[in-house]
Amino acid sequence: MRSYLDVAVEAAREAGAILMAEFDRPRKISYKGEVDIVTEADKRSEAAIVTRLRTHFPKHTVVAEEGTGHQADSSFRWYVDPLDGTTNFAHGYPCFCLSIGLAEKDALAIGVVFNPVNGELFTAVKGEGAYLNQKRIHVSKVPTLLTSLLATGFPSQKRSENPNIDYYWQFTLASHGVRRDGSAALDLAAVACGRFDGFWEFGLKPWDTAAGVLLVREAGGTVSDFAGRDYAVGGVHLLASNGVIHSEMRKLVNEIAAQSGPTSAGVDAP
Ligand code: IPD
Ligand code: CA
Ligand code: CA
Repeated sequence: MRSYLDVAVEAAREAGAILMAEFDRPRKISYKGEVDIVTEADKRSEAAIVTRLRTHFPKHTVVAEEGTGHQADSSFRWYVDPLDGTTNFAHGYPCFCLSIGLAEKDALAIGVVFNPVNGELFTAVKGEGAYLNQKRIHVSKVPTLLTSLLATGFPSQKRSENPNIDYYWQFTLASHGVRRDGSAALDLAAVACGRFDGFWEFGLKPWDTAAGVLLVREAGGTVSDFAGRDYAVGGVHLLASNGVIHSEMRKLVNEIAAQSGPTSAGVDAP
């Protein structure tokens, strides 16, 4: 696994340099949907990562958000988000990263989340722990939902169909607060290193979560769906925590789903 990680880290550093160079230029925005933005930076970063993965692992499948990946007959599958936090990036808000995950069959094997703004490199290899700039990281020990700091996010597609505002309000009342920073991969990395105690979101894509989920698990946390089943990449809803407050978070999501309609949330009846 070590060489997979090395290549992913090299790709992340190259793409991070591209993102920072683009961040200093006037930003050219185009739209994939009403408010779903794509920039030159997304495309250039993806090209750098996909080219590197393709050169080193020509037989692996690569699933990349902007569509330049390729399907192969392989049990190895890379998930690439070349710029997570595009809306922040496009507005000059320096909170974004890139995310590279590798799964073998359905098991996550490698996760790399790189924040080029502050140079924070989060890495995980299955069974070998999670690291921030090569120092071992762990989830927090915060014992209760009431004393926790949480994070969530809202999608830029089908916004009016997303039930998350109810969850946002209820979790705000039940905790120290809920942050909404616009990068799911950084949110998961923040759970892994104990800055946030929990995170949830609806409708995330495999490239948003593959690396971050492995980071949280390897840092000792729990990642499930709202029903408590192990989160599978691409699942409808994701609940990540330090493990200690997981059942409290699950209890609350199920209560909210019961009030606001379980089908809209995709949550099994409690
Ligand atoms: C988005 C970010 C955001 C999350 C959205 C994602 P993008 O990814 O992760 O935090 O709330 O659901 O789509 O579009 O910036 O790569
Ligand atoms: Ca993303
Ligand atoms: Ca993206």
